[in-house]
This record gives sequence, C-alpha cells and structure tokens, in this order.
Amino acid sequence: MPGSAPASDADQLLARRAAVLALLRQTGDGRLSGQEIAQQLGISRTAVSNHIAALRREGYRIDSATRVGYHLSQSPDLPLPWEVCPLLTGGFRQVTGGAETGSTNDDALDLARKGAPEGTVVLAARQTKGRGRLGRTWKSPEGGLYASYVLRPQAPLERVSALSLVVALAVADALERFGVPGVRLKWPNDLLLFDDEGAEMGKVAGILLEMSAQMDGVEYVIPGIGLNVNRPVDVPVIDDGGRRQAAYVSDRIDAVPRLAELAAAQIDCLAARYQAWKSAGCFFAPFRDEYVERLSTLGQDVRVVAMGGEVLASGIVIGIDDLGRLLVRDEDGTIAPVTAGEVSLRG
Ligand code: BTN
Repeated sequence: MPGSAPASDADQLLARRAAVLALLRQTGDGRLSGQEIAQQLGISRTAVSNHIAALRREGYRIDSATRVGYHLSQSPDLPLPWEVCPLLTGGFRQVTGGAETGSTNDDALDLARKGAPEGTVVLAARQTKGRGRLGRTWKSPEGGLYASYVLRPQAPLERVSALSLVVALAVADALERFGVPGVRLKWPNDLLLFDDEGAEMGKVAGILLEMSAQMDGVEYVIPGIGLNVNRPVDVPVIDDGGRRQAAYVSDRIDAVPRLAELAAAQIDCLAARYQAWKSAGCFFAPFRDEYVERLSTLGQDVRVVAMGGEVLASGIVIGIDDLGRLLVRDEDGTIAPVTAGEVSLRG
C-alpha cells in the first residue's frame, strides 16, 4: 500500500498464520494439502508445517493424513492475535498476547516503556497475577477477557482521569454490539449487569487506569479491562454468604461470542471512543450525557468513601459534571462533586 509503513516480520508472520487458518476454515469438511496451502500463500511447505505446528500448540485440532492433507476440526476459544486482527475495522491494529499471562497491564506497561506505539493491545484469556484497583487482586480465571491498551494522549494530567469513564463507555458499546441487555455503568470504573426486572446481577467488568507522566504532560496511559465472559462451573450465582459477587456475559445471553470476537469489538469500540475524546480536546463533556444515561446509581441514595475510609459524600446521585465527577446532593441540598472513591448504596 503506498504511503503505509512496511509490515514488520511479526506482522507478516501473524498475517500468514491468519491466512493459513482462513484457508483451513474455507475447506470446511474437506482437506487441504501442505502443497496447496504453500502455493496459494506463496510460502514454502516448511513454513506451512511450522504454522500448523504453532497452531496445534495453541490448541487447534488439525489432523493430517499423508497425501490428502490437513483438516481443522476444532479451534480454541482464545483471543489470539491472528484470530482478532482479521476482525478489526478500526484504528488499533497492533495486537499481542494469547492464552495466558501474569497481568496484561504489566505487559502493556513494559511495552510502553520500550516505546510501543499508541494503539498497542495486549490480550489474554487468563491471568496469574491480575491486578485490580486499590492494590486488590483481580481474579482472572480462564474464560474471561483481559485486555490492556497503550495510549499516548497529548493531554494535561487533569483531563486524563476521566478517560477511564470514556473507556467504560467503549466496553459497554462492545457488549451492546452483541445484544447483551442490562449493561449499566457504576461510576467511575465498573460495568454492572441488571436483569429484566431491573435488579442488579453484579459487576461484569472493571477498569484499571495506570499512567506515567512527566512535568510537561502524559507519557503513556494504560487502561486495563477485566471482562467476566463465561461463568466458571465452580462459581455459583449466589455465594455461601447469600451474596451475588460477579456477573458474567453468559448470565445474560445464551450465545456468548467467542473471545476473539469480543476482543475485536472492544478494540474497535475503544479506538472509536478514544479518537472522539482526542478530537474533543480530551474533554469529557461530550460524553457526559451518554454516561449519565447509563449510570447505575442515578437518583440513588449513596455513600462515597475515599481509599483511606473517609466518607467523601452522602446523599442522592444527581449526575456527573463536565469533568467526570460524580454529583451527590446531601440532605441540606448541597451538591458535592466527587473526583474519586468507592460508591455504595445507603440503607
Ligand atoms: C477493578 O479493580 O475493578 C479493576 C480491575 C482491572 C482488571 C484488569 S484485567 C486486565 C488488566 N490486567 C490487570 O492486571 N488488571 C487489568
């Protein structure tokens, strides 16, 4: 393509792996020989067998019979880059990751420090050291979608904290693309699911925003998103204490999309929202009404508590302001704008 950057070796490898898979899928119940794949893609037969071996290591079931060729009978449900990239239509295309990692945020921080470009995405279907907000652990069993993004907004620090609200909108957009009903936003960084009667089912996603900034501005921002997709068989809807702990996409829809489809939708929706935020000068104001429409605690009696336990505000949530702060009206009618904190229902 004239004007576009030359593809790196890694990009080329990924494109070829995606192409090998596409050919095997097109063949359906039939078989395709190594020779045919090599010819169609203009690569060597050795390269074909290397791709087949790599795919098998990732969990693809590909049987082969001498002279008749390969047949793909099963694909793993993983957000692998060669599954995700062909589905992308938006601005973010640099996708890495796969089945398991320690923490996608740690990986993305590492890539950002090494100069990874804006729009780099790290994906995993399982994390062994998932991190949540306030130093908490983020349980990350298999069947979830864990994603972190490298962003490099040229914005003053005070505008960047509201970016997590914009990210939350993007995650909601992606779920709505698949017809997941009852998605609401819990200020500032959570997504909840509600049932058809309007009862809360629990937290379906959380966002952790980490960043590095210098005196003259932000160097990089890493939003990390943990999305509960398939409820693990050993996690009951109601726990021993009679509480609902977490909600899963599979609690709300029967035909749960594959992780690669969910990942691609999330990446596209995030790229679109992020572009819109940058075009608006990194101000939250244009997103405010949409956020308020989806706000789970609007009109509710809440308490907002700081990290150290100090109560920052108590009263009725009346909205969000142009800076993304939660507006809470107390019994005297005084309105307190809250910048950060944990919200819980009173009474
Ligand atoms: C929260 O506490 O609600 C935020 C949880 C954020 C978890 C995500 S999962 C992907 C990314 N990697 C991590 O280690 N944490 C974030």
